[in-house]
Amino acid sequence: MGKGFYISKTVGVVGIVLGAGALVTIIALSVVYSQEKSKNNENEVKPTDAVTSAPTTAPSNEPWDQWRLPQTLSPQTYNVTLWPRLEPDPTGLYIFTGMSSVVFRCVEKTNLILIHSNKLNMTKQPTLMALGSKPAPIIESIVMHTKTQYMAIHLKDELTAGESYELYTEFVGELADDLGGFYRSEYNENGVKKVVATTQMQATDARKAFPCFDEPAMKAVFHITLYHDPATVALSNGVVIVDSTLVTRTTFAATEVMSTYLLAFIVSDFGFIEQNIDKLQIRIFARQEAINAGQGEYALIVTGPILKFFERYYNVSYPLPKSDQIALPDFNAGAMENWGLITYRETALLYDKEISSNGNKERIVTVIAHELAHQWFGNLVTLRWWNDLWLNEGFASYVEYLGAAEAEPDWNVKDLIVLNDVHRVFAIDALASSHPLSSKEEEIQKPEQISEVFDTISYSKGASVLRMLSDFLTEAVFTQGLQVKTLPSCAVDRNNNSLPKTVQEIMDRWVLQMGFPVVTIDTTTGQITQEHFLLDPETKPDRPSEFNYEWFVPISWTKNETTQPLYWLLNKNGELTWVLANINVTGYYRVNYDNDNWQRLLNVLQASRQSIPVINRAQLIDDAFNLAKAGIIETTLALRTTLFLNSETEYMPWEAALDNLDYFYLMFDRTEVYGHMQKYVGRQVKDLFDYFTRLTNWQDVPQGHTDQYNQINALRVACSTGNEDCKTLITNWFKQWMDNPNVNPIKANLRSTVYCSAIAAGGEEEWNFAWEQFQNATIASEKDKLRAAMACATEPWLLNRYLKYTLDPEKIRKQDATSTIINIASNVVGQPLAWDFVRANWEYIFKQYGGGSFSFSNLINGVTKRFSTQFELQQLIQFKDDNAHIGFGSGSLAIQQSIERTNANIKWIEKNQKAVLDWFKNPS
Ligand SMILES: *[C@@H]1O[C@H](CO)[C@@H](O)[C@H](O)[C@H]1NC(C)=O
Ligand SMILES: *[C@@H]1O[C@H](CO)[C@@H](O)[C@H](O)[C@H]1NC(C)=O
Ligand SMILES: *[C@@H]1O[C@H](CO)[C@@H](O)[C@H](O)[C@H]1NC(C)=O
Ligand SMILES: *[C@@H]1O[C@H](CO)[C@@H](O)[C@H](O)[C@H]1NC(C)=O
Ligand SMILES: *[C@@H]1O[C@H](CO)[C@@H](O)[C@H](O)[C@H]1NC(C)=O
Ligand SMILES: *[C@@H]1O[C@H](CO)[C@@H](O)[C@H](O)[C@H]1NC(C)=O
Ligand SMILES: *[C@@H]1O[C@H](CO)[C@@H](O)[C@H](O)[C@H]1NC(C)=O
Ligand SMILES: [Zn+2]
Repeated sequence: MGKGFYISKTVGVVGIVLGAGALVTIIALSVVYSQEKSKNNENEVKPTDAVTSAPTTAPSNEPWDQWRLPQTLSPQTYNVTLWPRLEPDPTGLYIFTGMSSVVFRCVEKTNLILIHSNKLNMTKQPTLMALGSKPAPIIESIVMHTKTQYMAIHLKDELTAGESYELYTEFVGELADDLGGFYRSEYNENGVKKVVATTQMQATDARKAFPCFDEPAMKAVFHITLYHDPATVALSNGVVIVDSTLVTRTTFAATEVMSTYLLAFIVSDFGFIEQNIDKLQIRIFARQEAINAGQGEYALIVTGPILKFFERYYNVSYPLPKSDQIALPDFNAGAMENWGLITYRETALLYDKEISSNGNKERIVTVIAHELAHQWFGNLVTLRWWNDLWLNEGFASYVEYLGAAEAEPDWNVKDLIVLNDVHRVFAIDALASSHPLSSKEEEIQKPEQISEVFDTISYSKGASVLRMLSDFLTEAVFTQGLQVKTLPSCAVDRNNNSLPKTVQEIMDRWVLQMGFPVVTIDTTTGQITQEHFLLDPETKPDRPSEFNYEWFVPISWTKNETTQPLYWLLNKNGELTWVLANINVTGYYRVNYDNDNWQRLLNVLQASRQSIPVINRAQLIDDAFNLAKAGIIETTLALRTTLFLNSETEYMPWEAALDNLDYFYLMFDRTEVYGHMQKYVGRQVKDLFDYFTRLTNWQDVPQGHTDQYNQINALRVACSTGNEDCKTLITNWFKQWMDNPNVNPIKANLRSTVYCSAIAAGGEEEWNFAWEQFQNATIASEKDKLRAAMACATEPWLLNRYLKYTLDPEKIRKQDATSTIINIASNVVGQPLAWDFVRANWEYIFKQYGGGSFSFSNLINGVTKRFSTQFELQQLIQFKDDNAHIGFGSGSLAIQQSIERTNANIKWIEKNQKAVLDWFKNPS
């Protein structure tokens, strides 16, 4: 669309004209860039004039009690040499030793050097040297501050502003299996235990590898050297410049000026494959066994085209001479965009065309696109501070779809953002305890607060809002504004009045206030209104909004199949055609209509659903269910939006319905509603199941990308609602496999479903078979399918035993512990077991998994999502009180959200159970 129109409660209809100039505000609105103009310029990072007022929690005003570095020193270059030991020392400890020198400039005179250092033991007295004419002050004392993770070096005299100094340190640290900083990952190959030394610095763990000024705006050049065994290969951000096999020392070219959180060092005996495109070297590293089995091929094939795409998209060449990507057996996040050396969980990079599913493939290509997008946006241009992380992650989460679409043009993968991000984050952003995309800098200080901003709001809402912006500006205008080279002029203050106002004014409301509106279109009066959409109408937003929870809302709409020009023209009284708004859900809002229009839309869905774009068929379902949840429309109206599905064969509407019916399953699978609901869903899915039986008789993979997903849904839902043909298919497949474990006859796409159903129907024998296959599997995606399926067991003792396994890293890797517990909690039998388990082991889990883990909020949300009784609410509150002294780390907000959600569930059930039961008894 070239132009957009916006409404707000008070203003009514406001038209705006957008020019390319307005674009810069995409960036300006966030005030966050520490800009690297170009790599050849002198790259000093100017100290920001950020507020450094003391956080209220700080015990004193001393600089070492503040979470933020003072602005007195500015790092320029580091020389870091590290030597990880891949064998334990005599006491059984894995360690690394290191030496590091950092050259910094004194910006403001001070007698204190405050530098981050966490869990490092100094093995020699640090030394300070002056690089200018005056001698360096003498070191008076050195104090480690473990809480704020500083090494404080107190000097007898002051450092001189404008002068440069060099600080040299030698240290030892533990190469622990804690998934953070410089850590170790272990795996077995041909019966031999192997150890990899690898890193995960983001957000605040570079300080665990060497003393550094560990804030994103403290950019510098890094010279990295690794000592290692000659039989291993050393990797880092830069290319190798000296590789002396005699002394087993690898030195890397100086990095670009960059942030500490993007550093990476790895020592392993991995294999790799490579490809050169123009002068760029692209390599994929993984366990030798995986590389030999060809599991890196797909990643290698798609990387080149995606990189080329982003070069065009940003109009900037890829900034480095090489792009390495490596799959690690132990990795906490999905992947990490370290500049030039991207690290991945194995499932996010390795693909086997016989064993991996279509969904695995999509995940790989989208994660690769996401991380490659960061090589420019995030790495070249970096947020000043973590409070505006959403722009970094939201942007990458949006353009990952564009990059993936370039590599897989036949998939329509861009449509899926609506299910994967927009609908998903709506559910969270509709809570009164949600939060705005952007936080105040002073609210995000401690490492756990920083971890907490890596949430669905930052990723998925960020992506949704940027997609909306791109849509109403048009993509051409949007990308023009993003081209990195145009940024210097736009990294300006939000309060700068000379900025073009319009786009910024629009975006501020989406960025600075939480939540989103529901737009109500009343075709009988022609009125359009908006209101803050809250899932529980009795709650009030936790925080006030300077914008009074009003948004500028771009409305695209269709009337009787005709896309309308982009201005308001509402139906007059009595006109009988249907109106549909938010075409393709490019706007970040929900839509409600008057009853008559809803009825007309239901009729269209039944009689000629093709008149409504497939994305909007999904939208109608998702909006209706959520409006009903918020008490805005009747629940039975929402249920009626699923009636047309018996003739629907498209994936998106089905997936939207199943996602929403999941909530009904969660709320009712322990009540009498369940039986009637199962009958209804079973009837609705029967035609879809028969459709796929006719299409390929379950022998071949359907052509279309989303058809493949829908085939999986058909099988899953038909079986879970008791379709006999389906159950026979599944039981036979699994039995064939158990009879001949060397030949798995189950189609890759269908494995998750088949495994889960067969294990649910089976007992110890099936479970143990799956466990053995899990241990033997050589590709991580297959392991993941089995791991999830084992949570489908229905015998409590099997589930309890499995829960115990999650705390034994020999059985379940630490990276997988939380998701396994969540899987078990999703099972109606496992729910109370998982909750008891988490409560009983909270302290242990928190200590063991606290460090590098982003997933406490997932864990808490996961084990409490079925909560819907007063009793469960009391237990949750008790849990919060009992563990207040231990804390919830990055899960603090999730506890609050779980309490809110449980309250809403209780009310919802009270209000709806009878109507829902009646409707399922007699659906119409
Ligand atoms: C850092 O290492 C580079 C390359 O090895 C060397 O040229 C430079 O002198 C070193 N700088 C310092 C401060 O040690
Ligand atoms: C560092 O020092 C502490 C206290 O002396 C000790 O417990 C720890 O094991 C040391 N770490 C390493 C890696 O040597
Ligand atoms: C940037 O755009 C200009 C003009 O279209 C083009 O000539 C140039 O090759 C582009 N640069 C890159 C790196 O894509
Ligand atoms: C505001 O931004 C404009 C354009 O980017 C710039 O020229 C001007 O100096 C800025 N003014 C202030 C007060 O920062
Ligand atoms: C709606 O459009 C259809 C064809 O697209 C047409 O047959 C019908 O008359 C239209 N309805 C109204 C009320 O305009
Ligand atoms: C909506 O999405 C579909 C599928 O991606 C696309 O074909 C169609 O052109 C889009 N409609 C509009 C109005 O952008
Ligand atoms: C798993 O691997 C072990 C050792 O390689 C082998 O003895 C066993 O038969 C395998 N199990 C299955 C089910 O393939
Ligand atoms: Zn990212």
